[in-house]
Amino acid sequence: MREFILYSRTGRTDSRFHSLMEAGRLDVVYQCILMSLFRSHAIRRDVTFHALLGGAPNPPLELVVNGGELRDARTDERTWEDILRKVLSGRAHPGIHVRKNSLQSLVKEKKNIFVLEESGESIKTIDLGADPVFVLGDQVGLPKKDEEFVLRYGKKVSIGQKAYLASACICIINYILDERESFS
Ligand SMILES: C[S@@+](CC[C@H](N)C(=O)[O-])C[C@H]1O[C@@H](n2cnc3c(N)ncnc32)[C@H](O)[C@@H]1O
Repeated sequence: MREFILYSRTGRTDSRFHSLMEAGRLDVVYQCILMSLFRSHAIRRDVTFHALLGGAPNPPLELVVNGGELRDARTDERTWEDILRKVLSGRAHPGIHVRKNSLQSLVKEKKNIFVLEESGESIKTIDLGADPVFVLGDQVGLPKKDEEFVLRYGKKVSIGQKAYLASACICIINYILDERESFS
């Protein structure tokens, strides 16, 4: 199993929006879902993605996309705009759940946590163990106080000294873990 937790400080917490970008950058959440859950013509059934949404009007909310249960989802942005609008208005979609939750409470439920940070230990040398959980910041980054909290339970890991988009980080990590699995 692999898990990704995205902290989205402005992600909107209801369904009243015109576009994902205008919804407190839910487009970043969509891009991260895509890179977490989808391969070419396949869904990654061993991945769970979480977004902690901190935007108006009802924060904090946790959006969970469970690859093992996800159905009826294509990869285009319009599909996900519809899905996110549906689940944020309280309607059901297979494999997607919304609940009231904070980053702090979610992290306390997890083991083997890694905070994605340019200055962390290289992913090439760190021991990721089994079932790693990766925490990422949004387009701005993880707020210092939240980073300090998560680091009580995990370690910083880096995929390089350059800053990448959160979605690119997820793609790179999935690739690295795929490589390790195919050669182990
Ligand atoms: C777009 S970046 C934010 C960069 C922003 N300039 C900042 O001040 O944090 C979003 C998230 O991707 C992750 N990230 C980006 N580049 C990374 C790298 N080279 N190694 C590890 N994590 C990275 C971090 O979790 C970061 O919070």
